[in-house]
Amino acid sequence: MHASQISFSRALVTGGAGFIGSHLVDALMEREVEVTVLDNLSGGRLSNISAWLKNPRFRFLMGDMLNQHDIKRALEGCEIVFHLAANPDVRVGALNTRIDYEQNILATYNLLEVMREIGECRRIVFTSTSTVYGEAEKIPTPEDYGPLKPISLYGASKLACEALISGYSHLFGFKSVICRLANIVGSRSGHGVIYDFINKLMENPNRLEILGDGRQRKSYLYVRDCVEAMLTAAEGAKGQVEIYNIGSEDTVDVTSIANIIIEEMGLRNVEIYYTGGVEGGRGWRGDVKVMLLDITRIKGLGWRPKLNSAEAVRQAARDIIAERGRLQ
Ligand SMILES: NC(=O)c1ccc[n+]([C@@H]2O[C@H](COP(=O)([O-])OP(=O)(O)OC[C@H]3O[C@@H](n4cnc5c(N)ncnc54)[C@H](O)[C@@H]3O)[C@@H](O)[C@H]2O)c1
Repeated sequence: MHASQISFSRALVTGGAGFIGSHLVDALMEREVEVTVLDNLSGGRLSNISAWLKNPRFRFLMGDMLNQHDIKRALEGCEIVFHLAANPDVRVGALNTRIDYEQNILATYNLLEVMREIGECRRIVFTSTSTVYGEAEKIPTPEDYGPLKPISLYGASKLACEALISGYSHLFGFKSVICRLANIVGSRSGHGVIYDFINKLMENPNRLEILGDGRQRKSYLYVRDCVEAMLTAAEGAKGQVEIYNIGSEDTVDVTSIANIIIEEMGLRNVEIYYTGGVEGGRGWRGDVKVMLLDITRIKGLGWRPKLNSAEAVRQAARDIIAERGRLQ
């Protein structure tokens, strides 16, 4: 099935004012879906969805996933929920151990509880992550790789969410799609390596600090490719609980990302400084050094990434630099 054929007319997007969420909202609105966004704007911005705020098919609810009443209001009349609201930052778990538990596990539990109570909305698409695989020995890593041993609290919390979704689906008849995303890049992103490097270089165009040894090598996917993959998975999944890896088919290392960004910003003679990182070159504790997902399964539904990792990074850098230019 092609992702432009949509089988639902009313959708809730939790975290829809965020980076990936707002691009998903664009794709759904362009396909004539009635969209509700529930977001507490902790990481998201209203400007990300400003194009739709006055559209009668669009509803924005400022609310919190930690409050079941807010979720109930948002879920009213929806046939499917795309659950993106979360703490998306892998790094914070080492500093504050409660955030991933609350914003990811408890928030997801609250959503599933409200879905169970209301009973009308029985479809959920969840944004999980490549970090559930931990330091996989098999690269590219397929969906059935195991045992899953995440090395961050973020990865652990997302794996717990997947397990809750699976259990609720089997007990209460939900149909669920779990998307394990690689690194997603593009405009409106408020975190991640490209965002960090551009910020640092705007502050000091002569010197760039790289966390770790620069040899961390991962798959990057352009956000529009990601959204199309999520919609393809939502429409193409047949079973009750289906898991799809979503990423590109190659990797790019952090030093190459720095060089792409330096080039796109038109800078010269930037001194690159490596912190060396922790545990043999990781950027931070919990940073996976090599990540590449096996995407055979989602490709079987007819989806392909349009951009490879380096192209995605370059396009994202251009988008973010242009966005900054408009904001200044
Ligand atoms: N960006 C990536 O590379 C990537 C990779 C793998 C998985 N993911 C997952 O994709 C999803 C979206 O990530 P993103 O990069 O767009 O992050 P983001 O921070 O831009 O989006 C998350 C949104 O959720 C909202 N939110 C957070 N806590 C909330 C709460 N308690 N109640 C209501 N709203 C809340 C934030 O305000 C924000 O708008 C997340 O679940 C993230 O874990 C992202």
